[in-house]
Amino acid sequence: MARAAGGRSGSARTALVTGASRGIGRATAERLAAEGWDIVACGRDEARLDLVVGATGGRALPFDVSDGGAVSAAAKSLLSSDMVPDLLVLSAGVFDLAPVHETTSELLDRNLDANLRGPFHVVRAFLPPMLARGSGLVVMIGSVSGRRAFPGNGAYSASKFGLRGFHEVLVEELRGTGVRASLVEPGAVDTPLWDVLDPDTRADLPDRKQMLRADDVAGAVSYLAGLPEDVSVPLIQIQRA
Ligand SMILES: NC(=O)c1ccc[n+]([C@@H]2O[C@H](COP(=O)([O-])OP(=O)(O)OC[C@H]3O[C@@H](n4cnc5c(N)ncnc54)[C@H](OP(=O)(O)O)[C@@H]3O)[C@@H](O)[C@H]2O)c1
Repeated sequence: MARAAGGRSGSARTALVTGASRGIGRATAERLAAEGWDIVACGRDEARLDLVVGATGGRALPFDVSDGGAVSAAAKSLLSSDMVPDLLVLSAGVFDLAPVHETTSELLDRNLDANLRGPFHVVRAFLPPMLARGSGLVVMIGSVSGRRAFPGNGAYSASKFGLRGFHEVLVEELRGTGVRASLVEPGAVDTPLWDVLDPDTRADLPDRKQMLRADDVAGAVSYLAGLPEDVSVPLIQIQRA
């Protein structure tokens, strides 16, 4: 029988989750931990990461995904303890709303840095040892905004369309290597990402109660993580029924 995602039968598999301090990343870390994965919880807010690790076990590995040097240094420290992740979940991200004519280059950079350069930095840092081992799974959290246009999503959509392109290239490059890549594209999810926008007070945004829950997305990641190693599911789109 084919082994599930990690590829090291008999020992706990390691999942490195970015954006694990809140929202979808946190829900995913908690769900995977409950399923027996060793968690490496990543984010910038060390106090929150400590809380998450208190619940999931494993360890915190704080870094800013937009800082390529910081990502490399964090990867080096993890890999030096012989810990090559079996699963990367790339959930760190930001969401800014502004019409295109009011989108500053700083706002564009903020979205591109966290949502596109961030996954690029993390994949570049961790993929070589996964390729050398010949197994592993990279799950990127994209968005419906990486496929459809919504007013105000200029910077965010640019980052998520870019992420989809990056993912699709990765799928082609990984074919036959034993490492797989999946993109999860949720619609709106009720997480702290929306707090600053207060969507329930705005007619142009979905109410929180109409949104998906973080655990719905965590469930999709868990499904991907449990697939046999010789099965690839490159894309999952999630929306409220
Ligand atoms: N919520 C939605 O409606 C929705 C829908 C579709 C897709 N998504 C995508 O799902 C992912 C997670 O979103 P969420 O809703 O869970 O958001 P969230 O609750 O705001 O959490 C975002 C996470 O990303 C981390 N993060 C942000 N910038 C970072 C950086 N530069 N370096 C390292 N970590 C960083 C934050 O941690 P720290 O603050 O500790 O750094 C936090 O853990 C994002 O990629 C988002 O685009 C969300």
